[in-house]
Amino acid sequence: MIYDNAQDLVLDRLFLRFDGLVPGLRLLLKIEGFNPAGSIKLKTAIGLVEDAERWNLLKPGGRVIESSSGNLGVALSSVCAARGYHFTCVTDPNTSPQNAALIRAFGAELVVVDTKDANGGYLQSRIDYIGDRLQEDPALFWPNQYANEANPRIHYDRTAAAILAEVPDVEYLFVGAGTTGTLMGCAAYFREHAPRTRVVAVDTEGSVTFGFPAGKRHLPGLGTSRRPELCDPEQVDEVVIVPEAEAVRMCRAVARERGIALGASTGSVLAAVARKAPELPPGATVVALAPDNGDRYLTTVYDDAWVAERFGLAARTPTVRCS
Ligand SMILES: Cc1ncc(COP(=O)(O)O)c(C=O)c1O
Repeated sequence: MIYDNAQDLVLDRLFLRFDGLVPGLRLLLKIEGFNPAGSIKLKTAIGLVEDAERWNLLKPGGRVIESSSGNLGVALSSVCAARGYHFTCVTDPNTSPQNAALIRAFGAELVVVDTKDANGGYLQSRIDYIGDRLQEDPALFWPNQYANEANPRIHYDRTAAAILAEVPDVEYLFVGAGTTGTLMGCAAYFREHAPRTRVVAVDTEGSVTFGFPAGKRHLPGLGTSRRPELCDPEQVDEVVIVPEAEAVRMCRAVARERGIALGASTGSVLAAVARKAPELPPGATVVALAPDNGDRYLTTVYDDAWVAERFGLAARTPTVRCS
């Protein structure tokens, strides 16, 4: 197959059979990490930029600024590089060194904001920083991934449509929540096209997105310290909250037993499936979304010392059987 642009390499029909992780379920993992930006956020970036172009908010040679815990930053860097836009990525100390290096490799400007907000996270501080830059430079375009309807729309059009096309009998769909763009897009699509499918949101302990108490979090991807404007909890059927240590154990178990290194949020999503499994009907068809792969977590999730320091020695040892 010959493609014209690197950003066309969105492999939306890629599913991996994951039976056995939870006995009795038919589990399919939708793998999103094999595109040039390395995560599901390539689609988000394309959606945000194309929407801005459509509305004339972004003109040739334009400048873009966005807050990202890493993956959207990489994806927007890639999309902006290919389309000739200057991109400033506003991030925080939780961003992995690999993501930071990639953002720079695509020629973007990287700003690390290390002032904590009132909830103990960085989200509000990053947004305040963007507010200041926008005041100085009104031509700067801020997609605002936490509030921009183009974010869920691309997942409605592409991610969710691909899931239903490939797995028309999906009964449960597990989706991690960051900005909730993926989640809200999938929830809206399934409500319209397959209302019997239950959409389960997965969030991290310590995230306030679904009204749970704020707490310390170490892993990028899922969770917020301030509810995203896009998030409407009424749209999802259930929410499963996963402690980060459980996500780490799951990633490490899957890597050793299946030979695939998955990203931290995929560990959370799979841990959520394992938590919910006792309540699901035997043989239920479950799709779980895997937003990225593990190669960007080698110095965190897959590093023994890093894991032991944050989650204790027990978290290093996979306790889950996944085969
Ligand atoms: C690895 C990973 N998983 C999950 C998510 C959450 O996706 P969304 O922002 O669409 O909720 C993100 C978002 O950046 C991510 O990078």
